[in-house]
Amino acid sequence: MTSDFRSLRDQILRFKEEKRALILSHNYQRDEVQDIADFVGDSLELSRMAATQDCDMIVFCGVHFMAESASILSPDKTVLLPEIGAGCPMADMIRVDAPRPVRTSFPGFENPPAYVFPPEFSLRDIRRQFPGVPVVAYVNTTAEVKAESDICCTSANVVKVIESLPGDSVICIPDKNLSLWASKNTRKKVIAWDGFCNIHERVTVFDVLQAKEDHPRAVIMAHPECRIEVLEIADHVTSTSGMLRFAKSSTEEEFIVGTEIGLMHRLRRENPGKVFYPLRDDMICPNMKKTTLQSVLRAFRDNTAIVRVPEHIRIPAKLALDRMLEIV
Ligand code: 13P
Ligand code: SF4
Repeated sequence: MTSDFRSLRDQILRFKEEKRALILSHNYQRDEVQDIADFVGDSLELSRMAATQDCDMIVFCGVHFMAESASILSPDKTVLLPEIGAGCPMADMIRVDAPRPVRTSFPGFENPPAYVFPPEFSLRDIRRQFPGVPVVAYVNTTAEVKAESDICCTSANVVKVIESLPGDSVICIPDKNLSLWASKNTRKKVIAWDGFCNIHERVTVFDVLQAKEDHPRAVIMAHPECRIEVLEIADHVTSTSGMLRFAKSSTEEEFIVGTEIGLMHRLRRENPGKVFYPLRDDMICPNMKKTTLQSVLRAFRDNTAIVRVPEHIRIPAKLALDRMLEIV
């Protein structure tokens, strides 16, 4: 460890103590950022930590919707997002309102049991088309979208959330891949929307076949944000922390990792005898990589990168997050 690095780390830890702060890091953050965090996890685990930990400040090393969820759940805490411009393009795709003509036919909705709305449709458009059908919002959405939804979900709990709802249909937004994956694991009809993560969407069936050929003994793990045809040929589909649990408990020794490469840090550190290969070397989320130790220190020092949600949005958005946290 260089002296510059040690000094950065020491200054961060001093601020942390002084401000009674909790540092949360998503599994995709840079290795050195994960290493200074109090807790590293997937979206569901981080939401739980934000909701339950006793502290005055949360420094969220992740992307905007994650810090926003922390602030929604804990409005009495100051929530800092060290790189305030670290967004999630998928979370910004769907809009609450942008009126469109009413549709009368939904080809494919009956069989197979999922219909995907094209991206020009807003959340309110979809609600108007399917009045009374509950809306499940992936946590990768803005606070405004959560506020107009009935319940949130993450990649770790989407099926349980869908199953918890009344009726035989659900609207599941914005990630088409996650929604189609869920539709294959529930008897309910899933009405989806054509959103995607550009990091996971780039993985093709060809990549999977190539990886299998290169590492014939390896088990393929894939995040549900990957294309549905990729998920169908993966050995295990789960959230980032689900992959950590699976790799730890598995008797297999080699794994191909179908998600952002930041997860490799924990996979390798927590499983020293096992080997991990990225499914693609370019699965790098530029927004997740914006946060550095320098930005964490700057956030503490300047106290300006604060994320807060207006009360009229926060209260209904919290209801959607609380409902999720209650059932799983
Ligand atoms: P997880 O909830 O699995 O950590 O995923 C979050 C995310 O942004 C995936 O791209
Ligand atoms: Fe958003 Fe994809 Fe980055 Fe996750 S990996 S934060 S879904 S852009």
